[in-house]
Amino acid sequence: MTPLVVYYSRTGHTQTVATSLAKKIGAETIRIEPASRVNLAFGAMEALMSMTSPIKPCRTDLAGIDTLVIATPVWATKIPPYVNMYLSLLTGAEGKPFHVLVERGSPGSDRPTEVVCHLLEKKGMRFMSSATIVEKDVESGLYEDTVRRFADGILSK
Ligand SMILES: Cc1cc2nc3c(=O)[nH]c(=O)nc-3n(C[C@H](O)[C@H](O)[C@H](O)COP(=O)(O)O)c2cc1C
Repeated sequence: MTPLVVYYSRTGHTQTVATSLAKKIGAETIRIEPASRVNLAFGAMEALMSMTSPIKPCRTDLAGIDTLVIATPVWATKIPPYVNMYLSLLTGAEGKPFHVLVERGSPGSDRPTEVVCHLLEKKGMRFMSSATIVEKDVESGLYEDTVRRFADGILSK
């Protein structure tokens, strides 16, 4: 398996879970970087309206990658506009499996996972599994169990 973990993280929590997962499944990581300074109020509105926002150039072609993991924080019950942009730019995705790792302030609906699924299934990708971790479990270290189970599931597919 040649997996890739792609994540966006403004304050480090999603980065912590994404890099922990990547280590466990032997994946490369890509961090999505906004092209300009983040304005939170504007970004939240863009997230709510499912809009895209420019990102710095990064690898968006999945040639040579056979499993994709998207790790994203929740913004305004959905996902940040930078993640929407990354997903819209993806190429070479047809027929490949993907997993979703959601990191959020507090428990809530499956909407963020559904948003990622909708965008990637439009590209012909196949949803395999998802996991959700709350911010306080990242800070206490409790996230490790969830990441381990999620990683085991990815490796067994
Ligand atoms: C603009 C904005 C909107 C957010 N909206 C939600 C939300 O709707 N639900 C939720 O559970 N957390 C929400 N959060 C909290 C983040 O998901 C949480 O702080 C997460 O840990 C941030 O990840 P990071 O440290 O990788 O940037 C929001 C955070 C920001 C900045």
